[in-house]
Amino acid sequence: TVIPRSPAPDDTLAFLRNGYLYGTRRFRKLGSDAFEARLAGTRAVVMHGREAASVFYEGDRFSRERAMPSSVQHLLQDDGSVQSLEGPPHRHRKTMFMRMLDDASVVRLVESFEHEWRRVRAEHAGQEVPLYDLGNLVLTRSALAWAGIPRDRVDDRDLAGRLAAMVDRASSIGPVDRIARARRRGAEDWASGLVADVRSGLADAGPDSAIRTIADGSDDHGAPLPEEVAAVEVLNLLRPIVAVSRFLVFAVHAMHTHPQWHAAVEHDADAATRVANEVRRFYPFFPVISGTVQRPFEWRGRDFEPGDRAVLDLYATNHDERLWDEPGRFLPERFQGWEGDPNTLVPQGGGEAATGHRCPGEAATIALTARFAQLAASRPFSVPDQDLRISLRHIPALPMDRLRVQMRA
Ligand code: HEM
Repeated sequence: TVIPRSPAPDDTLAFLRNGYLYGTRRFRKLGSDAFEARLAGTRAVVMHGREAASVFYEGDRFSRERAMPSSVQHLLQDDGSVQSLEGPPHRHRKTMFMRMLDDASVVRLVESFEHEWRRVRAEHAGQEVPLYDLGNLVLTRSALAWAGIPRDRVDDRDLAGRLAAMVDRASSIGPVDRIARARRRGAEDWASGLVADVRSGLADAGPDSAIRTIADGSDDHGAPLPEEVAAVEVLNLLRPIVAVSRFLVFAVHAMHTHPQWHAAVEHDADAATRVANEVRRFYPFFPVISGTVQRPFEWRGRDFEPGDRAVLDLYATNHDERLWDEPGRFLPERFQGWEGDPNTLVPQGGGEAATGHRCPGEAATIALTARFAQLAASRPFSVPDQDLRISLRHIPALPMDRLRVQMRA
């Protein structure tokens, strides 16, 4: 079998027009789980499914080098950060993240989250607010407290806005606007100052805190991380925790449209976890991940040479009919007794987190989303009439009205 070509000479516009469904529509039309296309100025093989995910994520075939337009890379990936590394330096840095996000640490993050949620509920009692914005604030505060970042070091509302903006604006293919970049630089400066002060003892950070771990972090040869690299890893820790806000919104969206799940999850943590996983599978977040071949291999009769690009369609894999029964329906029951194949449920990447580029924050994401589903199940707010549609053309997606909720008095 040969990998077919997209019928259009350039697919950049088709990607912008179709958003999350770009790949799905092409796969269907071409009757193939992979195709070649010209995207954002370069040729790439766009692929999806379990086998494609395993080729993409396992065996160190791909790096993230030049994998996105550099404007976007600067908002999301950070020069010198874990995602830009490969081989032993990557393994070493990844271990630092895995330690910061281990099971015990996730428990503490969820406790911090519950505490901050209660505070915010009281602050906003009786008000109508977009749940998305509220989620960003609650998650920023919980992440700061959990990471051991002293309260007096930061304006939490300002930081919540900056971190959310990085994700909100980062996924367009076109140039990222100057405001988004400037806001990001402000956050970088803040993180650098924080790292410097933790190192010098000016800022007080507990011995086991994440901020201390990063400040004291070293590379695979034992050299301390340069201050600016430590600073981007601070943002790499805080920003995606705040991004979980999207899944909090989607969890409430799911329960609002399938009200039977309120009773099912309120006192059943396992049911809440199944809802969280179905939220991660069903709702749109990262559409695709792109990579650059770093060692030659063959797949589907095609030679992949160093420098070639591939794009793994995460959304299409999460909705692949070969892997999921009725993928277009929200059915948390599908995760009852689920074996946990690393390359089928891939909203946060495939393969193994410890050795590849799979997200190290998956357990944290599932735990936060599941816990919030339980907190929301007791109906601390109502969902007023509004436009609940989620456009699959807008990346990253959110309900039209950012899911406004009316907090109980
Ligand atoms: C909001 C939900 C989240 C989503 C949808 C998400 C998504 C992803 C995806 C798709 C990747 C793989 C990128 C690739 O293959 O190059 C990734 C990597 C990563 N994620 Fe997440 N993530 C989430 C939450 C988190 C959390 C809570 C953390 C940590 C606090 C985190 C930290 C990271 C880091 C550091 C990487 C880079 C790993 C590496 O290159 O080895 N993410 N994430």
